[in-house]
Amino acid sequence: MPSATPSTIPEGVPTIRVVAMPTDTNPAGDVFGGWIISQMDLAAGTTAAFRANGRAATVAINGLVFLEPVAVGDEVSIYTEITREGRTSMTIHVQTWRRARHTHLTSKVTEGDFTFVALDANRRPRSLPPIKPGDAPVNPEI
Ligand SMILES: CC(C)(COP(=O)(O)OP(=O)(O)OC[C@H]1O[C@@H](n2cnc3c(N)ncnc32)[C@H](O)[C@@H]1OP(=O)(O)O)[C@@H](O)C(=O)NCCC(=O)NCCS
Repeated sequence: MPSATPSTIPEGVPTIRVVAMPTDTNPAGDVFGGWIISQMDLAAGTTAAFRANGRAATVAINGLVFLEPVAVGDEVSIYTEITREGRTSMTIHVQTWRRARHTHLTSKVTEGDFTFVALDANRRPRSLPPIKPGDAPVNPEI
């Protein structure tokens, strides 16, 4: 059985919101897990590029769990939070929440940890830039 941190409200910064469409489904009619992962990767990539102040690439995805299916028409919201920084890499915890189109009810459907590496112009790892006083927050409200 998938395990995840129990939570009643999303954790992290709202980064992407999108409506699941019929073209996003698997043969069983639910939204395709790969589509959800791609939205999570896009959201994490947005946060990583902001922190890296430039190009960053996904190097690993860990602990990804699918807790509930997503249906066509659901409003899908992705939240991101930087939870670890190394020299060139960072880990971003990503949660996906759904809201059924005609209700106020929301629930967490996936979460996982995406690790990104800041890259230079030759696609090699580069150090994360230091955070200076007055810089925008590491987990920005976008
Ligand atoms: C990202 C990439 C440049 C890293 O190259 P590399 O030779 O492994 O680099 P390094 O060994 O110097 O590691 C760089 C950092 O990544 C981390 N890292 C490497 N592999 C990792 C893994 N599997 N899981 C977590 N972190 C990892 C290292 O710990 C290091 O972090 P640190 O500097 O914060 O300590 C290379 O793996 C790559 O190009 N991968 C493909 C990326 C890609 O195409 N992604 C999909 C599209 S965005």
